[in-house]
Amino acid sequence: MAKRKNKNIILPVAHTMSKALYNTWLLYVLLISILAAATYYLYRANSSPLEKPPINALYKQPEQPIDARVENLMNYMTLEEKIGQMALVDKNSLKKIEDIGAYNLGGILSGAGSKPKNNTPEGWHEMVSGMKEQARKSRLGIPIFYGIDANHGNGNVPGSTIFPHAIGLGAANDIKLTESVATATAEEIATTGINWSYSPSLDAPLDIRWGRVYEAFSDDPALNARYGAAFIQGTQAANNTDSSKSRVSATAKHYLGTGSMQWGQSKNKGFKIDQGVIPAREDLLDSHYLPPYAAAANAGVASVMVGLSFWGDTRVIDNKHLVTEKLKDQLGFKGFVVSDWYGMYEFSGKSQYKASAETINAGVDMGMLPFEYKGFIKDVRRGVNQGEISQERIDDAVRRILYQKFKTGLFDEVPNSFDPSTIGTQKNHALARKAVAASSVLLKNENSTLPISKDAAKNILVAGSGADNTGRQSGAWTIEWQGVDGNNIPGATSILQGIREVAGTGSTVKYDKEARFENTTLADVAVAIVSEKPYAEGFGDNPNPSLEELDKKVIERLRTRSKKVVIVVISGRPLLMTDQVAQADAVVASWLPGSEGGGIADVLFGDQPFRAKLPLPWPTTLSQIPTTINGITADSTQSLYDRGFGIVN
Ligand code: BGC
Repeated sequence: MAKRKNKNIILPVAHTMSKALYNTWLLYVLLISILAAATYYLYRANSSPLEKPPINALYKQPEQPIDARVENLMNYMTLEEKIGQMALVDKNSLKKIEDIGAYNLGGILSGAGSKPKNNTPEGWHEMVSGMKEQARKSRLGIPIFYGIDANHGNGNVPGSTIFPHAIGLGAANDIKLTESVATATAEEIATTGINWSYSPSLDAPLDIRWGRVYEAFSDDPALNARYGAAFIQGTQAANNTDSSKSRVSATAKHYLGTGSMQWGQSKNKGFKIDQGVIPAREDLLDSHYLPPYAAAANAGVASVMVGLSFWGDTRVIDNKHLVTEKLKDQLGFKGFVVSDWYGMYEFSGKSQYKASAETINAGVDMGMLPFEYKGFIKDVRRGVNQGEISQERIDDAVRRILYQKFKTGLFDEVPNSFDPSTIGTQKNHALARKAVAASSVLLKNENSTLPISKDAAKNILVAGSGADNTGRQSGAWTIEWQGVDGNNIPGATSILQGIREVAGTGSTVKYDKEARFENTTLADVAVAIVSEKPYAEGFGDNPNPSLEELDKKVIERLRTRSKKVVIVVISGRPLLMTDQVAQADAVVASWLPGSEGGGIADVLFGDQPFRAKLPLPWPTTLSQIPTTINGITADSTQSLYDRGFGIVN
């Protein structure tokens, strides 16, 4: 049609001029048309905003199919607006709140510890609602994702229920429970207005010296696949019956191979193994590294976070084969890929311009920048204009992000007021308590020590660094990034409190952190609650994860003051404590249980059974670390306890 029209204009004019003049004239017209087309294209793609879309634009209609809504919205977007959607900014790096709308930012996050001035659930709701409002008021009204590390309950927000960390859920060996914990967590996240969680971790730790072992369910990819999928389904199921509310999106992380890094090879000078090097074993991809992500993709996970590690010589994030060919093409992952904290630039050795182009080309859809968004938008725009990044790649990234926003109801959400009755609820505390009991692994039980008889055990001693310390039992990613060391988690019950409550009035419970019980009669049973100080990420890389001197002394002292000694281990990983295990009658691994100390008392006194199994091997000596991908110790000797071990009663 268009061609015929042009011919009709040109031909009559041609009759009136010479052939040479006609040719020049034709060339001139052609040049003008090309110039006009190019200007129009650049205008559409790059420059000043187009007019506001109509109030009833198709993408605003909830009843329209998601794909149609995405395409309709894409038609209205300038290149800059598209790139804005690919930017994820920490809330502390926002120059001003209006920038959310002005730059059409795709997401805001609270990196751990990045909290509102009014650090209460209501304060969080107010802050997040204010940011959502900025997005809603913008030219296209594209809602933001607001992300948080809700690794074990919405731990950054005081007053939330703190569930066991993932390693405990891995031990609990209960898919239904994992799903319920994820749903309860997502409900508490949604109460604060937040709609995106950076959980679950699908990492498979082979080295207990790594400071992130507890964030993983297990060292076994098959278990990670099962628990990860359950966690994702549980998270994304929350709120799905109320169309006025948005739902919470889950994130599977840290793609790919995280947990297989090698000690001493961290790229981060302050760390030892975190952010390190994974041997580039192509032969293990399909059998070992990809299955958890295949399960996550099948469970419909909204996003996958690429980790900060290297795959051999290259950063995982630069590896198109891994990020695009394997994850998106082979596994059919339909969500979007987000980078980890500063991940586009970290260890790249290149300019930010080059690094962002390379990672986007590898398949990253959204950059957790998390600082400078104006520079990012400029860089990527330049990358597109100079042909380093294709328009198709940008469109694919933005489509993926928008699809999830539509799918999870972000566009159709009705602003709501804060509802205090939906956070830290009794129901959720009860669920958390059940999860704590379910995740406690009974490693040793001699002389019929456990369960402790409420009738026969008249004198009970309690001691140790973890006995009365809700900060330690909650671990990191609670209130602060590195957690808190002290009895100060709002709404939490310490293990000592739990023991006092469950033991009842028939027994006397005496407590001294250091077990200085010199003048007491020989007790019936003593409980040593030993623990690790909280740590997150590389700060927890520890060449010799073992007991603190205080806790070793506590065990020795209790041994002389009690007929029977139980050790309860509160830790983010198996600890090297073979000598102490030998000194005890019973040993329980309770991981990082969270706010419900009562759950541990429940299993100690037999109100709940021991059912949990070790989700990873518990080594005897340092020489056994790391284990191989097939669960064999480094020196080929027998672990103290193998994965799957756990006495049931
Ligand atoms: C961690 C991620 C986390 C992100 C945002 C990074 O340092 O590796 O697991 O989701 O920070 O807090």
